[in-house]
Amino acid sequence: MDATYIPVSIESIEAAIFPDVALYLKTGQNYVLYKSHGRDFSRVDAERLSSNKVEFLFVSPEDMEVITEHMEKSAERLLKSDKYDGKAKGKIIYQTSINFMGDIFTNPHKAGDLERSQRLVENLLLYVSKDPTAITSLESVMSHNFPTFVHSLHVTTLSLLLHSEAFLLSHDEVVDVGIGCILHDIGMLFVPQEVLSKPGKLMPSEIAMIKKHPEEGFAYLQANSSLSSVSLAIVRNHHERNNGSGYPRGLKNESISRSAQICAICDVYCNLTVDRNGNKTLPPNIALHVMKQEMKGAFNERFLGLFEKVVGVDDDNIPELLL
Ligand SMILES: [Fe+2]
Repeated sequence: MDATYIPVSIESIEAAIFPDVALYLKTGQNYVLYKSHGRDFSRVDAERLSSNKVEFLFVSPEDMEVITEHMEKSAERLLKSDKYDGKAKGKIIYQTSINFMGDIFTNPHKAGDLERSQRLVENLLLYVSKDPTAITSLESVMSHNFPTFVHSLHVTTLSLLLHSEAFLLSHDEVVDVGIGCILHDIGMLFVPQEVLSKPGKLMPSEIAMIKKHPEEGFAYLQANSSLSSVSLAIVRNHHERNNGSGYPRGLKNESISRSAQICAICDVYCNLTVDRNGNKTLPPNIALHVMKQEMKGAFNERFLGLFEKVVGVDDDNIPELLL
């Protein structure tokens, strides 16, 4: 995992304003110094790296703070610029989000920094609303094998798209939805690391620990942030199922907020299509089929129907084997 070094897309390294930090190339499992502190990163560097199909350089952990701050501040300008195509913008938003998630999972008290999460969601919205191919671009970047926190970003992007398909929402509500989705699994912080990283089957007691994450995340954010009720309900209820088979409270239908119902669909879909290591697993049409047939009744049918449109899948191409 690349938890120690931070990926920085080549496009976002703007020669004149990028902080003066050492940049590293990743070769195999190693990071090799590419540019030392004090040396300029020029256009020629960028072109040479691009022609060698290098998409990311890396920054060492001690520079994380300065880079994260810089990237978050420049993201809006970069996303509005005509200089970059959809894929480059996908990388920028992806990277900003990954840094943000990395930061709050290391320093949970920062999860209460509303201004910062708002800025991230605003940027994400700017990106998905301006580029009709946004989701494809973002997915191609996500499969680039930096698995950390990709899941939350994936769920958030899809939830924002599904909300815009299903409702006419005020901008503030959309931002609240985005924040709730970004933080939906924050309660995982309270699950012991040995349980989270245990390979193979979990014991019932370990499953019970994992199942506490919605309530733990909710309780933590309620006590340590001023998140809206829309965001908090997503964190607490994203594992509830419309037929009452979910957890922690076994809520049904309307007693689950609509945004939590939507987040649940996107969460399950992302878990079925991409595994914890960022590898693609089930193809989208099969994942949708599983959700509609094998998990029948678990999700709001109207939202699930609209979700098929969002991910651009129809049922016609399911191999006979699965029908
Ligand atoms: Fe979860």
